[in-house]
Amino acid sequence: MTTKYINQAEEARQRDFINTNQSLLKGRTHYYIQTFGCQLNDNDSEKLGGLLEAMGLKKANQPEEAQVILLNTCAIRENAVGRLFGNLGNLKSYREGQADVILGVCGCMMTQIQNVNRIKQSYPYVDLVFGPQDIYRFPELLNRVLLGSKRVYDVGGFDTVAENLPISRERKFRALVTIMYGCNNFCSYCVVPYARGRERSRPQGKILEELRTLAKEGYREIMLLGQNVNSYGKDLEAGPNQGDFTELLTQAAQIEGLERIRFMSSHPKDISTELIDTIARFPNIERHIHLALQSGSNPVLKAMNRKYTAEEFMDIVRYAREKVPGISITTDIIVGYPGETEEDFQETLKIVEEAAFDQAFTFQFSPRPGTKAYGLEEIPAEVMTDRFDRLVALQNANTLKSHEALVGESVEVLIEGLSDHTQDHFTGRDSANHLINFTIDDDTLDSLGLGQADWTRRGADLEGKMCRILIKDAKTFSLEGVLVEGKVY
Ligand code: SAM
Ligand code: SF4
Ligand code: F3S
Repeated sequence: MTTKYINQAEEARQRDFINTNQSLLKGRTHYYIQTFGCQLNDNDSEKLGGLLEAMGLKKANQPEEAQVILLNTCAIRENAVGRLFGNLGNLKSYREGQADVILGVCGCMMTQIQNVNRIKQSYPYVDLVFGPQDIYRFPELLNRVLLGSKRVYDVGGFDTVAENLPISRERKFRALVTIMYGCNNFCSYCVVPYARGRERSRPQGKILEELRTLAKEGYREIMLLGQNVNSYGKDLEAGPNQGDFTELLTQAAQIEGLERIRFMSSHPKDISTELIDTIARFPNIERHIHLALQSGSNPVLKAMNRKYTAEEFMDIVRYAREKVPGISITTDIIVGYPGETEEDFQETLKIVEEAAFDQAFTFQFSPRPGTKAYGLEEIPAEVMTDRFDRLVALQNANTLKSHEALVGESVEVLIEGLSDHTQDHFTGRDSANHLINFTIDDDTLDSLGLGQADWTRRGADLEGKMCRILIKDAKTFSLEGVLVEGKVY
């Protein structure tokens, strides 16, 4: 399928719907979006929020305060699917009790017909259903609901790229920037290529323009997003202003004011030594790379259609650690892929030990309808759980070890606000993406004008500022420290 670039005429058409909806939404004041899944979905929800704000609505803190509610779904594993239907059930009485409430479901799950059918049959109070490709035409779809159409179910089949959508960003210091959509890799377990279509890159010029604007607006950290950023640009025609991901990253790193650049995810089969050299070259590219291993066994990697071997994976890890001292390497691992033997699993444990990942996101295999691995004989649940527990125990010990090595160091932290757990702690991340909780002494709080302020204000005031933290203690999931040098900037 060829990419459909949304043109200016279509952008203008959608803007007209935004304007019309403003008056049609009369009396409705708030919207609420619940997002499941990955950062790409987070970024999509920010765009939906931007569109709703352009129609005059404000963001609500909970669904029961809103008159437009959207659930942006994820289909990656069965439990994500289960959560959606649980949430829809919870919203039934609120939706049915309020005539002016509009309930919509969108995102990756909606590209699978069985999910749409289930909504049709069992959740008739859902007014609107659309897919991840349809965000640019959300104003038009909502317009149909507002004009009285019952149950607008319209999941588009095009591989689209839309620019210039309004956006309501979740954080004031970090901006998510999707640089490409879809995936071509068809890993045998994964639903994403079916849910999100083929790889489509945004033109480099458009991305750089967005980054320059973000830098001017004061965003200190940007996160470039794609399912496999290393294949960015391959679908674009070569030209003077076009290039691959390394080229894009090199250009981005030179934009004045962008202090931290992160990217997710890198597929090990496509990562180049030039990319790692580029990280080494620019201090404002974060010292962190997410490289999904999935399995340490070559036969399992082959069955998964991953197209690299455990040895090739380790070559990249060694190269990155050598070229970028202090780089943190995180990964994703699936246990219990159909046919995985104890020997295969031992290979995974071996590479986890060898690679010394700073963190690993571990998953039990979940069969996804429509994928190649769906219907293959599954390994028994108790074997799966046992392997999962052993892997998590090993990784937790490794994470703690890597954290302990940082005690006594001083690092630069971008403050995210108050810690979720203890109110008198702030939280933030260093360039290697470590989660760091820290305290600020009373004199420094006084000098920052926050001595008398309550904790909420302290958190809000310091969000997006940077400071130096001395690491005092290591835990498995975080580091503990204190602010040093008495200043934030
Ligand atoms: N594109 C990314 C990559 O290949 O690095 C992965 C993105 S996916 C949203 C995140 C992770 O979910 C994958 O790396 C994989 O470990 C896990 N995952 C995907 N499909 C799965 C399935 N069917 N069962 C269990 N885990 C799955
Ligand atoms: Fe899924 Fe593989 Fe694409 Fe990642 S690279 S999104 S795991 S198909
Ligand atoms: Fe889920 Fe879709 Fe992301 S399936 S993980 S929300 S691309």
